[in-house]
Amino acid sequence: MEFEYNLPVHIVFGRGCIEQLGSEAAKLGKRALLVTGRSSTKKSGLLDRAAALLKDAGVDVVFDKVTQNPLTTTVMEGAAFGRKAKCDLVVALGGGSIMDAAKAIALMCRCEGDILDYQLLRRTPQPILPLIAVPTTCGTGSEVNGTAVLSDPTTNDKRGMRNNDYLPTVSIVDPLLMKTMPKPVLAAVGFDALCHNMEAFLSRKRQPFSEIMALRGMELSVKFLPRVYENPDDDEAWEAVTLASTFGGMSIYTSSVVAPHGIEHPASGLRDIVHGCGLAALTPIVYEHTLSAAPEKFRTIAKLLGGKKAADCPDAIRRFLERIDLNCTLSEQGVQEADIDWMTENCFQVSAMMLQNHPCKLTPDDVRAIYRAAL
Ligand SMILES: [Fe+2]
Repeated sequence: MEFEYNLPVHIVFGRGCIEQLGSEAAKLGKRALLVTGRSSTKKSGLLDRAAALLKDAGVDVVFDKVTQNPLTTTVMEGAAFGRKAKCDLVVALGGGSIMDAAKAIALMCRCEGDILDYQLLRRTPQPILPLIAVPTTCGTGSEVNGTAVLSDPTTNDKRGMRNNDYLPTVSIVDPLLMKTMPKPVLAAVGFDALCHNMEAFLSRKRQPFSEIMALRGMELSVKFLPRVYENPDDDEAWEAVTLASTFGGMSIYTSSVVAPHGIEHPASGLRDIVHGCGLAALTPIVYEHTLSAAPEKFRTIAKLLGGKKAADCPDAIRRFLERIDLNCTLSEQGVQEADIDWMTENCFQVSAMMLQNHPCKLTPDDVRAIYRAAL
């Protein structure tokens, strides 16, 4: 057996560790571009708190705002703003979309040209600005990986960029910051985290380190996501679902996501649907189609979810989704029958690697059938 594991991110994890934001930032720069979402961090007071922590540590702050499913054009605007303001550090405060956009902004603050020129590169021509990631949702695990998923508004392509240079320098993962998420957001991002761990576990690129994190991440999500969904005052459960998300980010960075993510991306790229909801509609169906390719692995997942054998896996996932009110279809989210051909073609263009890492080969006819069954 031969494998590699390389994840050079300084991870600070724990309830209340946001307090370390100022001291960590002061080690890296003097003027921070704080990238955040439209309104949630402002409403909760977190934005003001983060800005105060930075200022108290002697770091100046300027702000930038990013939306869900970040666009390549938004990144270019953010980078132009950061350059003009002479920022030497980027701080991402928000969910996966924010952290992904911040990675690309940190890149384009330093590099010439358009973000699209860098999407397929394995190394950046020069180091990007240092980045501190502060997640406020426990789903993507973007704080511990070098992946950024951006949508190109001219083509609707939702494409992942992956490069060790995009890894955050520091990640401050404070489970208490997750507590302001509305329940539907918690369900969607929490299920995304479970999917990351399930997919890394199923992946052809699975290796011992990612496997152990994926297994532990799945256990934590299965036990604690319904618990925190029912009782948002349960801080132990918040810590567990946050750790599951961080494990998920680490395991997919090493071992990749597989077909459910690959097939979901064209749907959310085209219709701007919530990623976790798209996965909820597609995952049980993808697994139903491919159970026979990895019966032992599906049996392990099924057992974690309360089933007995591999064939129980899709329904065990559906029962789990019911507990967090996330059972849904693609058509409920605006996807139409007429979209299927475009999504199938797009899937083989932008998600080819994810499909290749699935335990079995999927043809365009398979993918078309999966979309149809998920409508
Ligand atoms: Fe995901």
